[in-house]
Amino acid sequence: MIPTRASYRDIPLYSPAKKPCRVDLSDNTNLFGTPPAAERVLRGASLRAVTHYPAGYSPDLRRAVAAYAGVTPEAVATGCGSDGLIDCAIRAFLEPGEVLAFQDPTFVMVPLYSKMNGVKAAPVPLRPEADFDLDVDGLVATGAKVIYLCSPNNPTGTALSRAAVERVVEKAPGIVIIDEAYADFASGPGFIDLARTRPNVLVTRTFSKAYGMAGMRVGWAVGSPRLVAEVEKARGPYMLTALAEAMAVAVLTEDQDWVKARAREAVENRERLRAELVALGLKPLPSEGNFLMVPLPGAPKVAERMRERDVNVRAFQGLTGVGDALRIGSGPWPLLEAALAALRESMQ
Ligand SMILES: Cc1ncc(COP(=O)(O)O)c(C=O)c1O
Repeated sequence: MIPTRASYRDIPLYSPAKKPCRVDLSDNTNLFGTPPAAERVLRGASLRAVTHYPAGYSPDLRRAVAAYAGVTPEAVATGCGSDGLIDCAIRAFLEPGEVLAFQDPTFVMVPLYSKMNGVKAAPVPLRPEADFDLDVDGLVATGAKVIYLCSPNNPTGTALSRAAVERVVEKAPGIVIIDEAYADFASGPGFIDLARTRPNVLVTRTFSKAYGMAGMRVGWAVGSPRLVAEVEKARGPYMLTALAEAMAVAVLTEDQDWVKARAREAVENRERLRAELVALGLKPLPSEGNFLMVPLPGAPKVAERMRERDVNVRAFQGLTGVGDALRIGSGPWPLLEAALAALRESMQ
């Protein structure tokens, strides 16, 4: 008998229905290609980066992010993707058995990281009648020491109102994590200013979406130096490879125009896609991300038929406040056209 942890017995591995497809719009990555500075660093990489450990806690990236976000390097943490940072933050601030509250629905890894860290999950439904904004009182009433928010939210695509987020930050008994993986596609400025000015706010961002580096696994977070020091304790020193760190620094400092232009195109194509979906009689939710959430009864079956037509989109079943739905990523228009053709056939 292998002495496994009882609380780990029903933790599933993350494995959304997927098969290799010519068109993959299932994970909201940047489908416009590799940022030029990332490619240059990769092609010129020194073999030393293979044989030697990287510098602990990614000091070059901390400095670059600090300059970008208008904070000191002590106010920046880095991680193996922003999901690594969310995992570290949960572990850093909650003892096993304590409560993590989060909006529902949201990023699927959040309830999983709760389980992995032995904390109690307290999902609080978003308010569909108020454009999927927060139930501020419901979140605060959980008494949770950590509250996780996500804006623009995955999978709904909707953004949280400034007023609701500020009220949560004001009333929360502990830490508020604001996951901004999709901030680069949003029309508003996001919430980094709260991480700069409030001692209890940690904002997480990623290089996986607009920055086109999902395969390199780089995320960052900004918060008060005291918060960040705790998050750093919950991670190992070498969570980023030297190569990933160098690529991320190059893209952040040199490729802003590239990133912004691709994000703009993703947003334009998202709205073009919306018009086509509406013409099919569907009602996508408002979106500030690089994807659309499309309520559709029987979505898993439709997604399966789309995969048979070489197009992968993400299906959800019985989502709180939404029901069954497809999440379709945005990208170059020919890919979206192929997805539309597959969807039309799959809905028949
Ligand atoms: C809302 C949200 N947060 C975080 C992540 C994790 O991104 P990464 O770990 O690649 O930085 C994702 C990825 O899909 C996401 O949708």
